[in-house]
Amino acid sequence: TLVPVIMSGGAGSRLWPLSREAFPKPFIELPDGETLIGKTYRRVAALDGVSHILTVTGRDFLFLTVDAYADTGAPHRANTFLLEPMGRDTAAAMALATLQATEAFGEDATLLFLPADHLIADEAAFARAVERAVTLAGQGKIVTFGIVPERAETAFGYIETDGEDVLRFVEKPDVETAVTYLASGRHYWNSGMFCASTKTMMKALETHCPDVLEVARGALGAARQGAVGETLTFEVGREQFAKAPAISIDYAVMEKASNIACVPVSCGWSDIGSWNAMSMLLDADEHGNRLVGETIIEDASGCFVHSEDRLVSLVGVEDLLVVDTPDALLVAHRDKAQDVKTIYNRLKSRG
Ligand code: GDD
Ligand code: MG
Repeated sequence: TLVPVIMSGGAGSRLWPLSREAFPKPFIELPDGETLIGKTYRRVAALDGVSHILTVTGRDFLFLTVDAYADTGAPHRANTFLLEPMGRDTAAAMALATLQATEAFGEDATLLFLPADHLIADEAAFARAVERAVTLAGQGKIVTFGIVPERAETAFGYIETDGEDVLRFVEKPDVETAVTYLASGRHYWNSGMFCASTKTMMKALETHCPDVLEVARGALGAARQGAVGETLTFEVGREQFAKAPAISIDYAVMEKASNIACVPVSCGWSDIGSWNAMSMLLDADEHGNRLVGETIIEDASGCFVHSEDRLVSLVGVEDLLVVDTPDALLVAHRDKAQDVKTIYNRLKSRG
């Protein structure tokens, strides 16, 4: 059996002020009225052989997630949610899922780990890549999905390949290194999706981050079971889980393991990491402006405007990102879209 594991926990701080701590990026309404987490759910519910879906998320997001899944109108699948009392990054989240899946589906189930906040335009290409990944997972590989890099991005992991074999996995290199990777022709971006059998994943966690696995085991053992409608929930033990080292799977396992494979995939993947990426989901007018909501634009070009409940006007400006919400307004230069996260972090530290 193929069991998708949807992971949702990050804040999406570069999409402030729409993305908030209590309402993160996977739940933001996209221009087409859907959400990233809803699209993710629908995409995996449609895969061949999927009857059960695991979700690992913060317990504060239980109801938002149940609603987002219901809104998709996807065919019925059995759902289990593993609810974290606090975020401990992806190694711990994946350890919880691996332990739970081993218990529920056995050692030979295939797990497909997916971030809740990515966009995939070509679902048929994605499904074909998953099929290939399932075969490689059956051979004891941890399979990554490689995206042909478009720029020397430092926010991604890079996979150095020799055919389907992975020579090296490097998480978030510095910019000089990323430039050489971009030029090499042998490196892919790590899309953040992984596929492995429960057995292989368990072994990898045991070998490379036994401390994370042990804490996850204790926390899952202490979990409180419940249900919301037909969704089974496991609220993992707070005291135990708090002790988990906060480390991502990329550093904890992928950089260290030798049994990694890569399936290159060209499926219109985007991680919607900033307002620039988000704006690209909209068609531009003849001056390159992309507009949502009530706007009047005069002599402006290359701008993105998101207005929620009042009129927003631009006159004689270029390349601005303007995001207006009832309690916060963002105005930023397009070239500084990445730096929006510093505003989010300053707000957070202000408490
Ligand atoms: N349940 C849970 N708990 N989910 C989490 C947690 C957590 O504590 N932390 C992160 N996640 C979820 C995020 O919501 C996201 O869907 C996914 O796990 C990946 O985490 P990110 O924090 O977004 O990772 P990243 O973007 O810095 O890097 C990863 O993704 C890149 C592609 O977008 C890495 O895998 C990179 O190598 C990769 O290139
Ligand atoms: Mg991410």
